[in-house]
Amino acid sequence: MDHFHYSNDRYLGEEVPLAEVAEVVGTPCYVYSRATIERHWRIFDAAFGQHPHKVCYSVKANSSLAVLDLLARLGSGFDIVSGGEMERVLRAGGHPSDVVFSGVGKSESEIRRALQISVGCLNLESESELYRVAEIANELAVKAPIAIRINPDVDPLTHPYIATGLRDSKFGIVGQEALAVFKRAADMGSIEIKGVACHIGSQLTETGPFVQALEKVVDFVDQLASHGIELAHLDIGGGLGIHYRDENPPDPETYTSAVIEVLDRRGCRLPVIIEPGRAIVGNAGVLLTRVEYLKHSDHRNFAVVDAGMNDLLRPALYQGFHEILPLQQGSASRPRVYDVVGPVCESADFLGHKRSLAIAEGDLLALRSVGAYGFVMSSVYNSRVRPAEVIVDGDRFHVVRKRETVDQLMENECLFPG
Ligand SMILES: Cc1ncc(COP(=O)(O)O)c(C=O)c1O
Repeated sequence: MDHFHYSNDRYLGEEVPLAEVAEVVGTPCYVYSRATIERHWRIFDAAFGQHPHKVCYSVKANSSLAVLDLLARLGSGFDIVSGGEMERVLRAGGHPSDVVFSGVGKSESEIRRALQISVGCLNLESESELYRVAEIANELAVKAPIAIRINPDVDPLTHPYIATGLRDSKFGIVGQEALAVFKRAADMGSIEIKGVACHIGSQLTETGPFVQALEKVVDFVDQLASHGIELAHLDIGGGLGIHYRDENPPDPETYTSAVIEVLDRRGCRLPVIIEPGRAIVGNAGVLLTRVEYLKHSDHRNFAVVDAGMNDLLRPALYQGFHEILPLQQGSASRPRVYDVVGPVCESADFLGHKRSLAIAEGDLLALRSVGAYGFVMSSVYNSRVRPAEVIVDGDRFHVVRKRETVDQLMENECLFPG
């Protein structure tokens, strides 16, 4: 559920008419709903009930400072994948001890900084990474808290680009190899084993793959225990899908019940860390855009809008679907079927195919469900400045990122110095 809706033919974010935001801030512009973000985080937190748990919001889904700030105020932990995300969390008021650091390619400087600020856990993805972390921890004279991410070889039944739990993927360590790495870690003086981690993919729309993976993780925990390796937590990753078009993903309560059922049945009382990203912010954001030109022909109609694949990459990258709605209903224009495309010089630059819309040039549109993997994937391709970001909060709105300027676009460049 989100807080974007029509009232008297006007499309609102909470109680703010979004056309007003577009007039004041310009387009393209991302708009997030505070109430939606907070609601989703709280649902996850409440769904675990008495089972010890920590919700570590996955920063990669939307790393805007103001979004992280809202979540930090709720007491959220954070799942990060880079030094940049780590600094964002700190700046937003997140506690280092509530941070889990995932990712296959952590650099030496990222690991050093993570240990210096005492992050809660480094989720390791290879034996080489374990050696690197142990060495840096030694140098700093600290014990590095680590989990090892295992690859359970489970098909998440999602888009191949966001499937991470299959044997052939670059993520995690498979079966017996993971056991060997854990044993090595247990013998290292500068390493403190905290847990086991697992994340099989994103935009999962069924509980089955989560359950399958969790059963394998619990098997593995039992195996570790039989080798005298005790854990402090179980990090089960993120991945719960959202509704974009036809999907009917389980709600957070159903997902959580499935997780708790496995843990209870298997007698596992370990505290659980979850890393939801998309399910918290995905439906909490829309992208506002204005129709620049309409091109009608006898075989195809194009609506050329001022947002492009550089602003929202999901349609081009994943064939992602986003509902497209007019900010004002009741147009006098004749409805036609449009390909909604951006100004970028690529045929992949589309936001939606075959959409029935009654629109005129100059009209404002909203693309729904762009709060996750939206702005974070934006680029300056075609030297287009990155869009502004706004958060609506009841009947008020706040610009939380100004539109980038052309000067900022070139600020780190110079003319050829020779
Ligand atoms: C390790 C890890 N945790 C959490 C997430 C968040 O996934 P989602 O946004 O689907 O919840 C991802 C995303 O791919 C991830 O790689």
